[in-house]
Amino acid sequence: MCGIVGYIGCKPAVPVLLEGLKKLEYRGYDSSGIAILEEGGIRITKSVGKLAVLQEKLAKRTFSSTIGIGHTRWATHGRPSDINAHPHMDCHGDFAVVHNGIIENYLELKEWLMAEGHCFRSETDTEVLAHLVEHFYKGDLEEAVRKTLAKVVGSYATVILSYKHPDMLVAARKDSPMIVGIGENEYYIASDIPAVLNHTRNTYILEDEEMVTVTAQSVKFCDFQGKRRDKIIFEVTWDPIAAEKGGYEHFMLKEIFEQPKALKDTLAGRLTADKVILQEVDLTPAEVAAFNKVAIVACGTAYHAGLIGRGLIEHWAKIPVEVDIASEFRYRSPLIDEKTLVIVISQSGETADTLAALRESKKKGARVVAITNVVGSSVAREAHDVIHTWAGPEIAVASTKAYTTQIEAIVLLALYLTQAKQTMSQEWITEIISELKMIPDKAEEVLKQAGRVQELAKYFEHVENAFFIGRGLDWAVAQEGSLKLKEISYIHAEAYAAGELKHGTLALITEGTPVIALATQRDLYDKTLSNVKEVKARDARVIGFTFEGNHGFDKSVDEVFYLPLTANELSPILTVIPLQLLAYYVSAARGNDVDKPRNLAKSVTVE
Ligand code: AGP
Repeated sequence: MCGIVGYIGCKPAVPVLLEGLKKLEYRGYDSSGIAILEEGGIRITKSVGKLAVLQEKLAKRTFSSTIGIGHTRWATHGRPSDINAHPHMDCHGDFAVVHNGIIENYLELKEWLMAEGHCFRSETDTEVLAHLVEHFYKGDLEEAVRKTLAKVVGSYATVILSYKHPDMLVAARKDSPMIVGIGENEYYIASDIPAVLNHTRNTYILEDEEMVTVTAQSVKFCDFQGKRRDKIIFEVTWDPIAAEKGGYEHFMLKEIFEQPKALKDTLAGRLTADKVILQEVDLTPAEVAAFNKVAIVACGTAYHAGLIGRGLIEHWAKIPVEVDIASEFRYRSPLIDEKTLVIVISQSGETADTLAALRESKKKGARVVAITNVVGSSVAREAHDVIHTWAGPEIAVASTKAYTTQIEAIVLLALYLTQAKQTMSQEWITEIISELKMIPDKAEEVLKQAGRVQELAKYFEHVENAFFIGRGLDWAVAQEGSLKLKEISYIHAEAYAAGELKHGTLALITEGTPVIALATQRDLYDKTLSNVKEVKARDARVIGFTFEGNHGFDKSVDEVFYLPLTANELSPILTVIPLQLLAYYVSAARGNDVDKPRNLAKSVTVE
């Protein structure tokens, strides 16, 4: 997730662009840049690092240009660097482009353009847009942009600045957001409303697959076939802080609701109808066959995502799996060597314990694959291979969209290993891929139950203890649900393997004790049901989560939530969403600082 801005009007563009980027820094902040028109051509200034680095570079000069574009980056393709920062230009410097999104077919486009003689400077997917516009340009910028977008597969919000058309900006969006701010003889283009609020509250919201052409005096919308579109003005009533949260009260709630898009982006370009493609992982079938063990190592929520991986890799790829908390792993002299595949998972890519486990694993000769949400992070740089989750910046301390996209990345890696070892039939792989592609939409379905979960949260407002129970993958999700509730509502919550209750914990169940019972694993359902009856017999208040169609369950619990049917192994991605919402609503109801809970930090970079 990146931030893009554009401006055309009567004011000097540079201060306007920088201010807009500052307001969008929460969308990405590993590098930034701007492009303006000056006598003789397009002038680009960009740099790796925080926006302040770019501001310092620009402070050394004065600029009179009143048209420009800008970008603050959250890297997906190409590590953070000066050359990979946006804007990007074509071969001759006639067009400059900024882009938020993922171009899935950029490699084939880049190969074709290079065969046509285009010279590329960066490692990014975005740069292909500039060269495509150059390729199709025959005097009409809008037409060149339309032809460019017709070749692109993926998501984008993009603005194009051209030296050949100094009086206009052309922009377009598909799957990534974009708005137009309306000024007096000036127009603003941005990823999101915060970037323009200091100048105007009157905006146009671009619909999907829509283009816009702005001059200082005019704005024109059309579809990708060039057909004009009329739009109504959307007047923004939010204050700037609320606008950064997209109108949500907290970043955590925004990030919970961003999960369908984060899940879709993380799958982008990695699935065909019958195959997983992980360009970032370079393991031959022989290397995969040589692994006699997999060790998954992480902390906190990332560790809980790792627990999901154990079942998948063992059952699909037939490789024994150990899952460790990083702070334990590094001190137990783990038996790992060159026949071990170590998977480290870290949203921030900077967690000290996880980084230490990665280094320990490499020292012992293991192959290390990282799953991380931050391109260029320490974990990403030091692992042999990296699978990036494309969830965008996660601001809330309580991890949500990172967790569900980490599970997706683990599923992709497990399928990649399974393909290499041919331990499952092609028919089965095709079926699970088909299910995986439907997960983002099913996540959207689950989010529609947010109102019911908010009602349920009222019961938890004054409780002091809560239990989460489940079997198999439900037990793994129960541990994540319990952590979510603990870390932001401060209720003492514990997760237990449902079959373990009778070995002691059942003694804690008294009348009204809230028990969240997860029963989505159809092969374990009957066993879980008997455990639910155990706690119900002690007058617990049981809230059950099960799969659609399982209507007998509601007779055994006090309240039931049904989740869309999917493969057992994929259900954790859906089951966790109401648990995230429950934790959020309870924390908010208790008046806690939801985004910044006491005693905790977003990235624990110390031991
Ligand atoms: C998750 O809600 C917590 N904030 C915490 O457990 C977190 O998952 C853990 O610190 C690991 O962080 P990482 O994924 O950045 O390594």
